[in-house]
Amino acid sequence: MPALVVVDLQWGDGGKGKIVDLLSENADCVVRFHGGANAGHTVESARMAFKFHQVPSGILHRHVTGVIANGSVIDPDELISELKSLSEKGYKIGKLLISDRAHIVMPYHRQLDRLEEAFKGGKAVGTTGRGIGPCYADKASRIGFRVDDLLDVGNLREKVELAVKLKSAYAAALSGQLEMDANGLLDKLREWSSALSPYIADTSHVVNDMLYRGKNVIFEGAHGMLLDPDHGNYPYVTSSNISPGAVYSGSGLNSNARLSVMGVLKAYSTRVGGGPFPTELNDEVGEHLALKGMEVGTTTGRRRRCGWLDLFATRYTVGLTGAKNIALTKLDVLSGLRKLKVAVGYTYEGKRLKSYPSSASVLYAAKPVYREFNGWMEQLDEGTKSMTDLPKAAASYVSFLEQFLGVKAKLISVGHRRENTIVRGKQFLG
Ligand code: IMP
Repeated sequence: MPALVVVDLQWGDGGKGKIVDLLSENADCVVRFHGGANAGHTVESARMAFKFHQVPSGILHRHVTGVIANGSVIDPDELISELKSLSEKGYKIGKLLISDRAHIVMPYHRQLDRLEEAFKGGKAVGTTGRGIGPCYADKASRIGFRVDDLLDVGNLREKVELAVKLKSAYAAALSGQLEMDANGLLDKLREWSSALSPYIADTSHVVNDMLYRGKNVIFEGAHGMLLDPDHGNYPYVTSSNISPGAVYSGSGLNSNARLSVMGVLKAYSTRVGGGPFPTELNDEVGEHLALKGMEVGTTTGRRRRCGWLDLFATRYTVGLTGAKNIALTKLDVLSGLRKLKVAVGYTYEGKRLKSYPSSASVLYAAKPVYREFNGWMEQLDEGTKSMTDLPKAAASYVSFLEQFLGVKAKLISVGHRRENTIVRGKQFLG
């Protein structure tokens, strides 16, 4: 069964949007299976650049059905404005379906996200402020609102009033006051119901049926493996599982489906928000990466922290995902650096670590062990179509990381646009 999951191997922002968009040429369906408006994907079409948060990246292809599956959390105001902006720009998108079982990010989730972060002070996670944690917490506490509630707004008053009571008590404990009362929330739910009802469906049935009929389905991961709440740098993580196993629960994919993995690996490392980042660079090289890589968050506008490629962390996430193929992105950003480094291990208290540590405090104290490479001065552009077009030093950098990680770089991205990509074989699906 041709099902493929695309997952970022570091802390997100590796350029998944472009990769999913590229792969979508051969796909029938693109599925978001976790996360919400905290994710950001930039896709450049021939005419303009789009920044998506919730709409699947492949949706610019008219033949693609986009699915926002049950494991996602939906911010209706954001989603409605994304759809509006696509239609205002004259884009006719493929079919969009939203799972009836996905949870809704309520206005108080955003507010509580901000209040919790402020309350934590120096221990704040540095969230995107999109209400993601509070929404997933309510899902687990069984007090969340789901998309299927939008089909029955007339019967929601009691549930809304209970939520307002609970959340007001919590907001007060955090020295805040809820911004929206029950009537305001009911008005919002009615507004969302009329805008989104046409898209609501049992999406797991749609996805399984497509695969049964031999269609190609891409599962578009959000964020990055090191932000996974189980396997990432807890507590500096997001609130939904990112690893490929989450595709099954997050989309209702049946367990007969064989899932291939395409890892996305940026040629250097970045992270947004708080948390340990052993290879972080606060010098002119970090500045080069930030400026040339335009490392500003799609969702928050925050400047990303930049550093050398952390292959020690990436080898850990390759092991977790089982990725054999990767898309190496933003290789062009490294042009102009005379020397390059990659972390191939860490030391902690003077000893070399055997495996990637689980503890954030160990990671904060860990020192990277670097391997150094020659850089290259040539710019990479549209003319860079194959490995032989790469400067020798760039080709060595790529082959070292392939060897170290035990993967094949099937796609190498050297610019924003679809054309700026070295494609090494087309058998990604199936
Ligand atoms: P939350 O997902 O908004 O709760 O944020 C939790 C952490 O994950 C923060 O450090 C965010 O900056 C980070 N984060 C969430 N989504 C993304 C993403 O798509 N790219 C990079 N970082 C993200």
